[in-house]
Amino acid sequence: MSIEVLQTHALLKSCEEGIAERFTVHKLHEASDRDAMLAEIGPRIRGIAGGAVTADLMDKLPNLEIIANFGVGYDNIDTGAARQRNIRVTNTPNVLNDAMAEMTVGMMIALARRIPQGDRYVREGKWPSGTMGLFSELTGKTVGILGLGRIGKEIALRLQAMRMRVVYHGRHEQQNEPYVYYGDLVAMARDVDWLVVIAPGGKGTEGIVSREVLEALGPDGMLCNMARGTLVDEAAMLEMLKAGKLGGAALDVFEKEPHVPEGFFDLDNVVLAPHQGSATHQTRNAMGRLVIANLDAHFEGKPLLSAVV
Ligand code: DGY
Repeated sequence: MSIEVLQTHALLKSCEEGIAERFTVHKLHEASDRDAMLAEIGPRIRGIAGGAVTADLMDKLPNLEIIANFGVGYDNIDTGAARQRNIRVTNTPNVLNDAMAEMTVGMMIALARRIPQGDRYVREGKWPSGTMGLFSELTGKTVGILGLGRIGKEIALRLQAMRMRVVYHGRHEQQNEPYVYYGDLVAMARDVDWLVVIAPGGKGTEGIVSREVLEALGPDGMLCNMARGTLVDEAAMLEMLKAGKLGGAALDVFEKEPHVPEGFFDLDNVVLAPHQGSATHQTRNAMGRLVIANLDAHFEGKPLLSAVV
């Protein structure tokens, strides 16, 4: 009998095919009656591919052994509940570092130079009768990175190559890093031109970019959030962007995705993206391969490639 795996949301085609070649797959997101599906197949499920796994869902899968998340962030999984039930959890680190770092730099330049606004300006036929105005460069500016992890380091390298001065904040000062460390996020926000948010989501970082941090960043300060919407006080950010109390925001992530507060749509000092940080062919395929490799390793009794629990 083939091992039965639950898929919790749509995955990349190559990943879905790879999983289906190995396991009997049940697609929870396609079920017309999720409860009925879980009541029927729940006891047979030994693995999950995908995220969004609550303690309640785990309780419906009494023989669940492993959750292989498609993503490096695993704030969508109740890891405490998994630990209590001896369920292993894996994520997809490293393979997305370059894609995330490129997108971050892209979002920053797009905001600094108003690239999407320029595109709209041309398409709307406004060019012949006006001018977009002048904007700022990144070169020579100071950027504070909130979360100098694997992705944060790749972002730092690229921004340094663009001759930005890089500083960072995180839970601890890191050894052998050339960048100045700030133990206090508000103090860092006060000293930088840009704040790049790339710390993990979850309870430990919720609302960490508070109104106070945004006020410290100030009317000339730019925010780029590539991590999770929950890290930033979204309502305060919107209010301050509207009032000119925050210079601008490049946002790939939002508090309640895919909902984006409409207030952002009218603002010219904002660049918006639909959580696209890792959305390249190379990266998403590599993430899919890692999901499959973790499931294979677990069911073959080998060490997991990227375990978080
Ligand atoms: C992740 O993997 O957690 C990223 O948010 C995907 O873009």
